[in-house]
Amino acid sequence: MPWSMISWMNSCQMAADWKLLLDGIYCSKIPLLQMRYSAPLHISENSNESVGLPGRVFLEKVTEWTPEVSIIWQHVTHTFFSCKNRNLSTVKDLAVKNLKKRSVHTKTGRLEDKVALITGAASGIGKATATEFINNGAKVVLADLQDELGQQTASELGPNAAFISCNVTQESDVSAAVDYTVSKYGQLDIMFNNVGISGHTPPSIVDLNLADFDRVMNINTRGAITGVKHASRVMIPRRHGCILCTASITGILGGLAPASYSVSKFAVLGIVKSVAAELSKYGIRVNCISPFAIPTPFVMDEMVMMFPGVDPSKLMAMVHGSGELEGATCEAQDIAKAALYLASDDAKYVSGHNLVVDGGFTSFKHLKFPTPEVQIK
Ligand SMILES: NC(=O)c1ccc[n+]([C@@H]2O[C@H](COP(=O)([O-])OP(=O)(O)OC[C@H]3O[C@@H](n4cnc5c(N)ncnc54)[C@H](O)[C@@H]3O)[C@@H](O)[C@H]2O)c1
Repeated sequence: MPWSMISWMNSCQMAADWKLLLDGIYCSKIPLLQMRYSAPLHISENSNESVGLPGRVFLEKVTEWTPEVSIIWQHVTHTFFSCKNRNLSTVKDLAVKNLKKRSVHTKTGRLEDKVALITGAASGIGKATATEFINNGAKVVLADLQDELGQQTASELGPNAAFISCNVTQESDVSAAVDYTVSKYGQLDIMFNNVGISGHTPPSIVDLNLADFDRVMNINTRGAITGVKHASRVMIPRRHGCILCTASITGILGGLAPASYSVSKFAVLGIVKSVAAELSKYGIRVNCISPFAIPTPFVMDEMVMMFPGVDPSKLMAMVHGSGELEGATCEAQDIAKAALYLASDDAKYVSGHNLVVDGGFTSFKHLKFPTPEVQIK
């Protein structure tokens, strides 16, 4: 088939813009496109200009129309139509940037045909994971309390991302997010219960405000088990699925965070182990990830409160400098990659596990002997 219709255009001007955009993208020499198309793109308009009917734009194909190429074109179309101000050079730059990322990743999609729901996905670890999952072929629903930021993130991530407003403390919201995912994409393969707040609780147990404690537990622990419950509701009948939760190193060792937060994360590990026990008989895997400190908004807000007036770049350096592993720092992407592993078939026999991403921090202590250079009297 030498020609393929790629899109309906609702005006001849739009069709002309579209051609300019595609020419621009072709000229940017994205490797995958270069590989697939050995001749310049040729667009032909099948439109009736005299009566102003919608035009059809055709793309001449030199090689076959593969799923990878189809995803790429979907992405370009999405960028083209979702840009509020359709300034061609802005759209082209955005499309080229995103396509460059895709052209690298589409070849190794570890989550092809998988559908994920991620809570707390508007920023930080959730956003990084949504990006990683999409780059590996998944379709992702981002659920978050922050509507505007969530919509913006989904639009940034392209046509395989969708946003739903969700407060994890409301069971009906979580249930609706699961149902929305299934109705939009036909299934739910991966549920990532990632929401968490620090809660700004006081460092001493003596000053503990029990209403604050309840609030932290409500979001971090009850929110996580609500996600586990509703994901299980749709996964059990399919006898298939992967559930992930974000725990923390503060759920392994005491002393790293105020008690409320720490307790809420110890409980997340409890959820994972107890639910893995039940769901194993349905072939559903349940795991969690325990990150080290990462300067996401969650941590930076806390740092600003603890060290008012200190420059944010210094605060970020303090967070990064608190680890044990020399030459590396913990980033949101490290957690996203851990989630990718657990969600993929590479981890098909891993369940009930806590994948600790902390550069060894919780694995050892040093004896406080003086170093050999120091004279002992
Ligand atoms: N950043 C770290 O150092 C670190 C370390 C260990 C664990 N964690 C855990 O990682 C997870 C993600 O945190 P992050 O660092 O990416 O923080 P973040 O603040 O960047 O992201 C958290 C997201 O959750 C959303 N959210 C908060 N309350 C919500 C609610 N009730 N319903 C729905 N969405 C809600 C926020 O809007 C935000 O988008 C949390 O569970 C956190 O406890 C973070």
